[in-house]
Amino acid sequence: MQAKRVLTLAGDGIGPEIMQQGIRVLETVAAKFNLSIKMESALIGGAAVDAEGQPLPASTLAAAKESDAILLGAVGGTQWDTLPRPQRPEQGLLGIRSQLELFANLRPALLFEPLASASTLKPEVVAGLDLLIVRELTGGIYFGQPRGVETLDSGEREGFNTYRYRESEIKRIGHVAFQAAQRRGKKLCSVDKANVLEVTGLWREVMNELAAEYPEVELTHMYVDNAAMQLVRAPKQFDVIVTGNMFGDILSDEAAMLTGSIGMLPSASLAASGLGMYEPCHGSAPDIAGQDKANPLAMILSVAMMLRHSLQYPEAAAAIEQAVADVLTQGLRTADIAHEGNSIIGTQAMGEAVIKALN
Ligand code: NAD
Ligand code: IPM
Ligand code: MN
Repeated sequence: MQAKRVLTLAGDGIGPEIMQQGIRVLETVAAKFNLSIKMESALIGGAAVDAEGQPLPASTLAAAKESDAILLGAVGGTQWDTLPRPQRPEQGLLGIRSQLELFANLRPALLFEPLASASTLKPEVVAGLDLLIVRELTGGIYFGQPRGVETLDSGEREGFNTYRYRESEIKRIGHVAFQAAQRRGKKLCSVDKANVLEVTGLWREVMNELAAEYPEVELTHMYVDNAAMQLVRAPKQFDVIVTGNMFGDILSDEAAMLTGSIGMLPSASLAASGLGMYEPCHGSAPDIAGQDKANPLAMILSVAMMLRHSLQYPEAAAAIEQAVADVLTQGLRTADIAHEGNSIIGTQAMGEAVIKALN
């Protein structure tokens, strides 16, 4: 059998630290399940800006297109925040998502039972939580034209972005969300701002039209402001949420805190071709970078998502998820998920604990 090719893009800040643990876990399951996986690494984000003057070098994009799946750490850092926008690390991430047409971003917020008291919410509010946010990733206000900052005749500056979605873009993310709901609890909540924004009025109409193709799925709609509130009031009312690029970005960070920490939320970004990129939902965490403090579990759980969705190794994926559950049951915690009585371990020790639980 031909080896599956995985491209690793560590990026910036805590990216390399968590990627190291993700790679070690992948190597461990590859040995244990006799999987044939070939890893290669490339530059993205600030690391690529420093080495090659641009956040998404052509060689990185070419390597990504040649691979079966991509693992990404995180990009960004204050030292690059004053560069012209096209040269900033974030453009590397937005560029690879867009160039590879990774339009479907799956962000599962699953509470591991031992972490019920790590959430800032009451344990009974989050216990048993299992929700999936399906975020559109290559359209909406992130990519709409025109955009920019202009100086008006009056001398005043004006900044502008454009929020637009084509029907075909709404349909393809809608199908992904309905199908996910069909495989899960059969409830889909579409989140929009249809009371104000025409673009999301169209979003709502298209979701209603698609519903006819999925009679088993119960479709509801919610305005994004209410959804933000409901997520912390009663998050277990949700099964699958589908929403646009920016609302999905914000709601998924909020949902992360239901699971204990932003350091727990993995993600998959999928193209129609089946190609996928896998990354934690969090960023490069400059405040804790280089200190062995970052929680590597979102990265490690992203490796599991990659094994399941892109590499078709579901047993290896399940083994990683079980190992993560086991270390949490043992009481092992990085600082972000620790509560009273826990002793705190670092990034590397957490990676080692998962590997030990796998063996
Ligand atoms: P962030 O997610 O990097 O950090 C927010 C807070 O969460 C910080 O206090 C950080 O220490 C903490 N945190 C994040 N990940 C953690 C982990 N694994 N373990 C423990 N704590 C963790 O968001 P930010 O501070 O708004 O952004 C920092 C940089 O990251 C910016 O340059 C931003 O553009 C970039 N960013 C990148 C991505 C990505 O690569 N996918 C996502 C979000 C932000
Ligand atoms: C994410 C990040 C990115 C986004 C940024 C860094 C471009 O916040 O992956 O959630 O907004 O999509
Ligand atoms: Mn984000």
